[in-house]
Amino acid sequence: MSENLCDIGFIGLGVMGKNLVLNLADNGFKIACFDLDQTKVDAIIETDQEENKTDKARVVGCRSYTELLSKLAAPHLLILSVPAGEPVDHVCHHLIDAGIQADDIVIDTGNSLWTDSVAREEKYKGKFIFFSTAVSGGEVGARFGPSLMPSGDPYAWTRIEPVLTAIAAKVDPDTGKPLVSNIPGQPVTRGEPCATYIGPIGAGHYVKMVHNGIEYADMQLICEAYDLLRKLCGYTPQQISEVFKRWNEGLLNSYLMEISAEVLAKVDDETGEPLVDMIMDKAGQKGTGLWTAVSALQVGSPTQTIAHAVFARSISSLKAERQQAAEALSGPSSQNDADNAELIDALEQALYCSKICAYAQGFQLMDMAAKEHGWQLEFAEIAKIWRAGCIIRAGFLQSIANAYISNEDLINLLLDPFFAEQISNNQDAWRKTIASATLAGVPCGSMSSALNYYDSYRSAVLPANLLQGQRDYFGAHTYERVDKQAGRKYHTEWAKPGQPEVKIKR
Ligand code: 6PG
Repeated sequence: MSENLCDIGFIGLGVMGKNLVLNLADNGFKIACFDLDQTKVDAIIETDQEENKTDKARVVGCRSYTELLSKLAAPHLLILSVPAGEPVDHVCHHLIDAGIQADDIVIDTGNSLWTDSVAREEKYKGKFIFFSTAVSGGEVGARFGPSLMPSGDPYAWTRIEPVLTAIAAKVDPDTGKPLVSNIPGQPVTRGEPCATYIGPIGAGHYVKMVHNGIEYADMQLICEAYDLLRKLCGYTPQQISEVFKRWNEGLLNSYLMEISAEVLAKVDDETGEPLVDMIMDKAGQKGTGLWTAVSALQVGSPTQTIAHAVFARSISSLKAERQQAAEALSGPSSQNDADNAELIDALEQALYCSKICAYAQGFQLMDMAAKEHGWQLEFAEIAKIWRAGCIIRAGFLQSIANAYISNEDLINLLLDPFFAEQISNNQDAWRKTIASATLAGVPCGSMSSALNYYDSYRSAVLPANLLQGQRDYFGAHTYERVDKQAGRKYHTEWAKPGQPEVKIKR
């Protein structure tokens, strides 16, 4: 093999792509790069020249797909960082035209819909091996260690593994805490990598999709806590930032809590006001939370806190309508008269319990989807690779990993003795917080959906018996009986109000 050839071909030098290339280079891989926008290729060469402390070229710029392939050692390993959807296929077709071979590997790192990954593996079979790895961690994660969720052909994985484990975030195996180095050229080379083979193609992007669903719920729960601190306690963004910093030292320790405190502390350069007050309250979304909610509905997994977080973004985007409704509709007149310190302590516990439920829903969804699609998902491993690098990284992912390590057949996180006890100890405060919010008319749909999930899950009897009666009444949909063999169906000839009883022969 010529010394001049590169180890990896990289296509797509947007924010994520550029940072992944520099991360790969820091970890000793020589990269050939291509982007349709030549200025991005020039920019990465320039950045690499500034950062490269070795005497060898680490990044090579290319002007075409053909040139890119010609720079690579065979069999070729290519990584794509292009927007999800059509652009992925666009690049794949260009690679075929440029002469990619059947044993070459193409790894998609975008936020692709998992079913697209499944279809692509099939579509490109015989032309090249289509593999996918979902990436979490944003710009900084990509640069200094993301969490990676690879899936696809197991043979391809044996070739990809050393690359992905090298660039992934690392965790101290003793403490479960992230090992961080944000210094170019000095990657963390020890510790447990936040990259594990998830399973057949599609499984990795499914797991990343659920990660994002949990991310939506976690973010919305923090937003609700912020809203309650503002509207019930009358706290300023700066005061709330201090509360969040304190919470971040305890049970709620997480990246999202940390950045929320920083966002709230930021002052707007133009007005001198808290920047958060200058930001329009209309949430955007790229679709992964919605995909999670849709998938949950399809597999019949109760993920109401995740779904609510998607709806919360939807209602936020109806700004003009909300402004009109604020004038037209009344709310409760009662004000909060509870002690602020008490309320804040209760809110911390409410947030913690709600967060446990959101994660329980996400893991339950993965479990149900895995059964449906025939995947063997290792939940302890999934929790472990989310301990660092990704957006939902949090101290308590170690406890989730421990729950699945001690019982790999655990059917719901809520049934793990540690989490069951945590909720048992904190639930009074959780209930009181939601009651105070409801009485004051402050929406806290994610928190209350989490409590409803908990209360429904722990109910041996739910009113679905009446529901089945209703269905049988108007549609002869039948029902099972509690006193007869499971699965046997019964129908009643109901007397309809105001109508003579009709007997239908079956
Ligand atoms: C991550 C993030 C990342 C991205 C989301 C944002 O894990 O690094 O989840 O994938 O920030 O796609 O999604 P929304 O735009 O839908 O909030």
